[in-house]
Amino acid sequence: MADNGSDDTKDQISPSLEIVNNDSSADELAREVEETLTLSQRHKFWETQPVGQFKDLRDTTLPEGVIEPPTPISEVKQEPYNLPGPYEWVTCDMGSEETCAEVYNLLTNNYVEDDENMFRFNYSKEFLRWALHPPGYYKSWHIGVRVKTSKKLVAFITGIPAKIRVRSDVVSMAEVNFLCVHKKLRSKRLAPVMIKEVTRRVHLENIWQAAYTAGVVLPTPITSCQYWHRSLNPKKLIDVGFSRLGPRMTMSRTLKLYKLPDSTVTPGFRKMELRDVPAVTRLVRTYLLQFVVAPDLDECDVEHWILPKEGVVDSFVIESPETHEITDFCSFYTLPSSILGHPTHSTLRAAYSYYNVATKTPLLQLMNDAHIVAKQKNFDVFNVLDLMHNETFLKELKYGPGGGKLHYYLYNYRLKHILRPSELGLVLL
Ligand SMILES: CC(C)(COP(=O)(O)OP(=O)(O)OC[C@H]1O[C@@H](n2cnc3c(N)ncnc32)[C@H](O)[C@@H]1OP(=O)(O)O)[C@@H](O)C(=O)NCCC(=O)NCCS
Repeated sequence: MADNGSDDTKDQISPSLEIVNNDSSADELAREVEETLTLSQRHKFWETQPVGQFKDLRDTTLPEGVIEPPTPISEVKQEPYNLPGPYEWVTCDMGSEETCAEVYNLLTNNYVEDDENMFRFNYSKEFLRWALHPPGYYKSWHIGVRVKTSKKLVAFITGIPAKIRVRSDVVSMAEVNFLCVHKKLRSKRLAPVMIKEVTRRVHLENIWQAAYTAGVVLPTPITSCQYWHRSLNPKKLIDVGFSRLGPRMTMSRTLKLYKLPDSTVTPGFRKMELRDVPAVTRLVRTYLLQFVVAPDLDECDVEHWILPKEGVVDSFVIESPETHEITDFCSFYTLPSSILGHPTHSTLRAAYSYYNVATKTPLLQLMNDAHIVAKQKNFDVFNVLDLMHNETFLKELKYGPGGGKLHYYLYNYRLKHILRPSELGLVLL
């Protein structure tokens, strides 16, 4: 549920490229919240849910933690919520080639676009299967809505199980993602029914909390992150309107500025293998402890989420040439966007920074090597959020700021204070 691509800020210009977006300063969370508060009853649905409410933002007497205690599972509503007459619930078997293709087509044509409708996320089928089949997944949490008569898939929402640590409290949660309603069925209050239905099915598994992200401000973000973009193929990014030439820059100066070495610079940099799972798990578990909110990953999770999967996730370790110890790793996932209505280019190839841990190699050098391999793999742009330690390398590695924000939320779990992005150690796909 990331914010999609093209974004610009006229007052924050990367060295030679401006990342195109027209949001200006309206992204400021405080202002958005205030706007929301002045429009009465703006969140008719979310005001009824166990989430931090805007009115409680300054109330520090409210305790941190669970908002509503769990109920016995026998008291959870046993039947699905009612849908409008023409529609029916289905459970989507993402292992079925046919169903996966239907979900892929729904998302490819109706999922997240940038504010100017120039780009739309184009998650691949392999990516969707990977994202939805982690260890212990529940098929019943992959929920579709079909038209009863034609059986056409018109809406989708998913959950996957995850252990998320909040301070010292490790909580079983659902990560909710891929909420999508067909363009022709928007603004009919279908989304709240879908959210309630996934919540019901999560409760039936005795899980009472969730984590999710959105580009829109809802009650109430635990933090709000920003995307930053590192051009790998500036000519194409400019051609398709993702970015533009900076002031006093020519194309040839721009190409020179973003040029990367042909091969990685860190000795011992290599693709992660199955045998690296224990070492990478130790590295990532230790690293994530310093963040207020982060996933609690075991070896099975690391094997699923971080071990490379062709065209889906890339991961590299640094193996010390002397001791053969794994000292650092970096990873990124593949999420292209469709370029809408462009005469020659149809796909923007984007790599998204995932989890990176540097203990011996400087993080800046590790990320520069990540850019080099991403460039070798023909990605056009490398995207990162300003969470974890990512802020520390953005300027030096020639990132430009994106527009819009990605807001992080917890369901049925309150934090006393909004976090800084650097206090967050969670990346949702
Ligand atoms: C997001 C989407 C499913 C919402 O559906 P919709 O038809 O626009 O809105 P509906 O009339 O069904 O429901 C509106 C309610 O859903 C809430 N809502 C909208 N987007 C939401 C989101 N991303 N996450 C959670 N709730 C959301 C609204 O805030 C509103 O509730 P409120 O009155 O309490 O504020 C739809 O716009 C869509 O498919 N967009 C493209 C894909 C997308 O952006 N997905 C979400 C990625 S984070």
